[in-house]
Amino acid sequence: MSTIPLVIDTDTAQDDCVALLVGLLDPAADLKAITMVAGNVGFERQVANAFLTLSVAGRLGEVPVHLGCRRPLTREWVSAENVHGDGVGGLTMDASGLEPDPKPGVDALIDLAAANPGELTIVCIGPLTNIAMAAIKDPRFVANVKSLYIMGGSNNARGNITAAAEYNFYVDPEAAKTVFEAGFDIVVVPWAPLTLNEAVFSREQIAEIGALDTPLARFFVRIVSTTLDFDESVGIAGSTHPDSLTASVLLHPELVRKSSRMSVQIETSSELTRGYAAMSWGVHGLDPNATVVEAVDGAAFYAQLSAMLAIATVPSRSFSN
Ligand code: BDR
Ligand code: CA
Repeated sequence: MSTIPLVIDTDTAQDDCVALLVGLLDPAADLKAITMVAGNVGFERQVANAFLTLSVAGRLGEVPVHLGCRRPLTREWVSAENVHGDGVGGLTMDASGLEPDPKPGVDALIDLAAANPGELTIVCIGPLTNIAMAAIKDPRFVANVKSLYIMGGSNNARGNITAAAEYNFYVDPEAAKTVFEAGFDIVVVPWAPLTLNEAVFSREQIAEIGALDTPLARFFVRIVSTTLDFDESVGIAGSTHPDSLTASVLLHPELVRKSSRMSVQIETSSELTRGYAAMSWGVHGLDPNATVVEAVDGAAFYAQLSAMLAIATVPSRSFSN
């Protein structure tokens, strides 16, 4: 079976962990590296969460973790700890001896793309700071990358951190603007309506996963717990899985039921609509720069994730609360 070479650029908390599991465990994936970017929770916490996820997958030490940008291009970091807590439901693991790869994340992205010209896909599930920095630093980066699968924005629908904006684009709108104007081949998995329609797991589904009683299933139930409470408090009937959907759509394009070429432009000058993604569907005379996923087979996505979480991995290190 041929595999898809990819890097996951992540602000590791909650569904980012699930997306890492997809990259680590799906037979269609050849995960070359994990690069960290400032986002959901404190940077060191994100790194610890990535190591914990690698361990639960039984793959600690097999995939390098590179540290990328610790803050957005020009703005202060905005945390989502009110949504995610520590991002792993309080789970801990002895991390002694674990070190990130010494190569900085931006250089790792540049070098991996250069070593695999036209072949490497980057799954971007945090703010786009590292990707923008790589494009600024190396003029060949855009051409060397095969495609970016970006979780971010909303498709003419509500945001989540503000009425207008989705978190990843809100945190670093200048980076998002840079990336969408750079000429990459881009696929976008938006927050609304797609994630809210097709990638929300109910308490019943989460209990079904818990009943699998594997280390992965126990890990999953714990790491989604804080976000589940938050999501319910804002009227969403379950835990949200946009990041793992993004990785899954890359590896299993048959999940996509509808997508459209669109012009995606990012707002950077207004405070009110900071990070808003204007997704123009073709009637406004704008050149398309991205493919926006509009509908997926949500049941098939859930079935794929549950099957993955049923795998009886042997964690590299024990974890506890
Ligand atoms: C995005 O922000 C984070 O909270 C999630 O991991 C996802 O990448 C959703 O707005
Ligand atoms: Ca994320």
